[in-house]
Amino acid sequence: MAGGLAGALAGTLLLSGCGGSASGTPAHDGRPELSVSSAYMPRPVSDSMAAGFLTITNKGGAEDRLTSVTSADAKKVTVHETTGGAMREAGSLTVPAHGRLVLESGGNHLMFDGLTHRPEQGGTISVVLHFAESGSLSVEMPVKSATYHPATGH
Ligand code: CU
Repeated sequence: MAGGLAGALAGTLLLSGCGGSASGTPAHDGRPELSVSSAYMPRPVSDSMAAGFLTITNKGGAEDRLTSVTSADAKKVTVHETTGGAMREAGSLTVPAHGRLVLESGGNHLMFDGLTHRPEQGGTISVVLHFAESGSLSVEMPVKSATYHPATGH
């Protein structure tokens, strides 16, 4: 539905630096209300594989689940979770009501396989997030330096 809008929104949040603030929009209880922020991909060292990170915020009163991810720039995208230092494919990840699902370095992340081209710093990778309740959200993921970490990271 509003894929383009979500992409534009993600860009706006990135430009303004920090999302979370008291907005005038009342939560629609019983419905998830998702937005994406802080999306980035560290420039991969590999030609074909890369990891990606982002934060999904749910302002709504119902949870949602990230069920799959697709990209026009990769053959396959999977969601990985890190447990005990090892990563494995996650079936689906919950975005809690009035909460966040954070994909970050060292934790849950997106894994891109079979990239159609090598992402260059300053470029973007297109990603579509598919949710159980909310449909699809399009995100333009900026490619950062290989060693980039967001300010809140360690
Ligand atoms: Cu992984």
